[in-house]
Amino acid sequence: MCLLKFLALSLFLATACYARTAPIDVREATVSSIHNPLFSGSTTCRGIVSAFLARIEKFNPDINAIITLNPDALSIADSLDGALSQGGATGPLFCIPILLKDNYDALPMATTGGCLALNASKPTQDGPAVRALRNAGAVILGKSNLHELALEGLSVSSLGGQTINPYDFTRTPGGSSGGTGAAVAASFAVFGTGTDTVNSLRSPASANSLFSFRPTRGLISRAGVIPISYTQDTIGAIGRSLPDIATALTVMSSVGYDPTDNATSAIPPSVIGTNYTAFLSQARSSNLTGIRIGVLEGFFNRTSSNETSPVNTAMANVLSMLQAKGATVVPINDTMTYNATLISSLMDVQTSEYREFLTAYLSSPNLTGPHPISMPQLYTPNATRPDFLVIPSQYSYVEAALRTSTSNSSYYLKQFLITNLTRSLHTTFSANQLTCLIYPEQKNLVVPIGSPSQSGRNGILAALTGSPVITIPIGFSPSTRTAPIGIPIGMEILGLPWSEGTLLQVAKSIDDVLHARKMPVTGGLNETVEVTGVYSTVPNVTPLGVRNIPSAYPLGVY
Ligand SMILES: *[C@@H]1O[C@H](CO)[C@@H](O)[C@H](O)[C@H]1NC(C)=O
Ligand SMILES: *[C@@H]1O[C@H](CO)[C@@H](O)[C@H](O)[C@H]1NC(C)=O
Ligand SMILES: *[C@@H]1O[C@H](CO)[C@@H](O)[C@H](O)[C@H]1NC(C)=O
Ligand SMILES: *[C@@H]1O[C@H](CO)[C@@H](O)[C@H](O)[C@H]1NC(C)=O
Ligand SMILES: *[C@@H]1O[C@H](CO)[C@@H](O)[C@H](O)[C@H]1NC(C)=O
Ligand SMILES: *[C@@H]1O[C@H](CO)[C@@H](O)[C@H](O)[C@H]1NC(C)=O
Ligand SMILES: *[C@@H]1O[C@H](CO)[C@@H](O)[C@H](O)[C@H]1NC(C)=O
Ligand SMILES: *[C@@H]1O[C@H](CO)[C@@H](O)[C@H](O)[C@H]1NC(C)=O
Ligand SMILES: *[C@@H]1O[C@H](CO)[C@@H](O)[C@H](O)[C@H]1NC(C)=O
Ligand SMILES: *[C@@H]1O[C@H](CO)[C@@H](O)[C@H](O)[C@H]1NC(C)=O
Ligand SMILES: *[C@@H]1O[C@H](CO)[C@@H](O)[C@H](O)[C@H]1NC(C)=O
Ligand SMILES: *[C@@H]1O[C@H](CO)[C@@H](O)[C@H](O)[C@H]1NC(C)=O
Repeated sequence: MCLLKFLALSLFLATACYARTAPIDVREATVSSIHNPLFSGSTTCRGIVSAFLARIEKFNPDINAIITLNPDALSIADSLDGALSQGGATGPLFCIPILLKDNYDALPMATTGGCLALNASKPTQDGPAVRALRNAGAVILGKSNLHELALEGLSVSSLGGQTINPYDFTRTPGGSSGGTGAAVAASFAVFGTGTDTVNSLRSPASANSLFSFRPTRGLISRAGVIPISYTQDTIGAIGRSLPDIATALTVMSSVGYDPTDNATSAIPPSVIGTNYTAFLSQARSSNLTGIRIGVLEGFFNRTSSNETSPVNTAMANVLSMLQAKGATVVPINDTMTYNATLISSLMDVQTSEYREFLTAYLSSPNLTGPHPISMPQLYTPNATRPDFLVIPSQYSYVEAALRTSTSNSSYYLKQFLITNLTRSLHTTFSANQLTCLIYPEQKNLVVPIGSPSQSGRNGILAALTGSPVITIPIGFSPSTRTAPIGIPIGMEILGLPWSEGTLLQVAKSIDDVLHARKMPVTGGLNETVEVTGVYSTVPNVTPLGVRNIPSAYPLGVY
């Protein structure tokens, strides 16, 4: 089967491109490893985009991470090649291929949330963070699958189907930004974006041996992204290296104050325009002297089992390494306050906010194409539009969201408890003079496909308190029959609001010792895909959709 389509239509262009396009190996590519051959003239932007398209075309049928490719990707690459030839290669992400979780508005694609009912819902403009990525030179390759409407962590949706973990084809990739996580792990793009209402930027990073940032609430405008919760939603990036996610953070946060997301009014003047990459170059490599790191004892499952022990072993290795490199480790044993299950059940406000905020998005005049125009309409049986996926545990969620709102007294009580939790967290920092807190993102390994939920995750603390977190890879479980190099394990590094720079420094000092990130080898994902020319058109990538939804998740009308 011929996978590559050459520029046969235009002999002139083809000659020009062949002359300047050496095959490039994009496995584990970074912003700088793309920029070197591009700026030295040994490849073109079209050549780079083609190399990623070749990997997607070859491996997406195994991983099922992509919902749609951007039909404009190659013409954007050409215009960047034009700018390059005229000395106009500007922007920190010049010709960097990226993927967007399919809840980000980006022209000319639909924003589906992975939901069949939104398959034709098209924005009239990019969201502000997407505009910033584009202005910085990024090439949007396409949209990645997610858990339907970002409501769970299994990364299965009615439009996309089930995304597969590249390290173990029997496991989920975490979620809800699991399409981005799986795609970035498989080198389908340099990095990708995600959203995080409770765990969704951190769980896919943890499950795919990647780095991510969840920004301080308000640092990055969430406008133009399908919302769930005003209090808990954030947007960010997932990548294979700290410099790449630092650049993504710099670009996405450059939007600054945005009147269409008033949470951005909280950004302190001193934070506006920060270059986060600069913090990495200032980090003391592998030297943690003077850093005080709190460890949340309540965020572990100390039961010994195949699912929990590898996580506890990886964390124990990190703790002994931290001490060996001069850090002070402070156990935080207040398991009454820091109990993720308990604080989720008492304080999570998503269901009270979902109806209002999703309706505001769906009813915007800036959304075109046939689509439901309110949250209740989305969840109302409707013969003219297809069914969507609600996994069993989500029925009660949707039911609660249809009934409750931000004017209920229970909502005010939860907000009061969140304020108290935030105060407790800040007290833990000041009383122990902490630089950061650490804990495993998930108390157990990422769950197998078909599991009822993505259990054991610890993301709720940052979600409720609006705290920033950098997630880093810290190791792998022992190898198994289905996971040749083991299943990835990730750790959260949580800080006080606006401390992203410090967290990146700590993350770098730790990563310089661990170097835990490994590329997947399952299904030949570690092999190069030979690209001898360039693509003339963007290939058709069809998500597996309902064909590979596990029978445990019935497709039905709510
Ligand atoms: C959306 O789904 C409907 C019903 O299956 C189908 O008729 C329509 O063509 C789809 N639209 C797009 C843009 O995919
Ligand atoms: C901010 O926007 C939210 C959602 O639009 C609204 O509920 C809230 O009242 C606004 N707050 C302020 C201070 O403007
Ligand atoms: C940010 O800082 C890095 C290193 O300090 C520098 O190389 C880069 O050019 C800066 N980026 C911007 C957008 O100023
Ligand atoms: C580590 O950093 C501390 C504080 O800056 C410094 O005093 C110490 O010499 C450094 N150690 C090494 C091995 O570089
Ligand atoms: C702890 O892990 C064990 C073994 O995987 C599991 O059976 C149990 O449900 C977990 N406990 C909690 C509270 O998550
Ligand atoms: C745990 O892992 C061991 C070694 O891979 C395996 O023999 C055993 O069957 C596993 N136990 C369970 C309950 O899956
Ligand atoms: C806190 O927990 C750690 C780990 O379980 C334990 O070693 C330590 O003694 C405890 N500290 C206090 C003050 O209880
Ligand atoms: C506030 O937090 C503290 C410390 O976690 C806790 O002891 C107290 O019970 C909380 N107050 C309320 C009203 O929940
Ligand atoms: C955490 O809270 C849950 C739910 O209230 C409870 O079942 C569990 O025992 C608590 N865990 C600890 C370590 O206190
Ligand atoms: C719709 O787009 C216009 C033009 O860009 C913008 O001014 C307006 O804020 C947008 N409306 C909403 C609800 O996002
Ligand atoms: C059914 O769904 C379509 C597309 O989402 C919408 O345009 C239409 O108004 C809906 N019909 C009813 C009766 O809600
Ligand atoms: C890919 O991984 C397999 C299994 O570990 C190994 O045998 C093979 O040599 C690797 N290929 C490359 C190109 O690294």
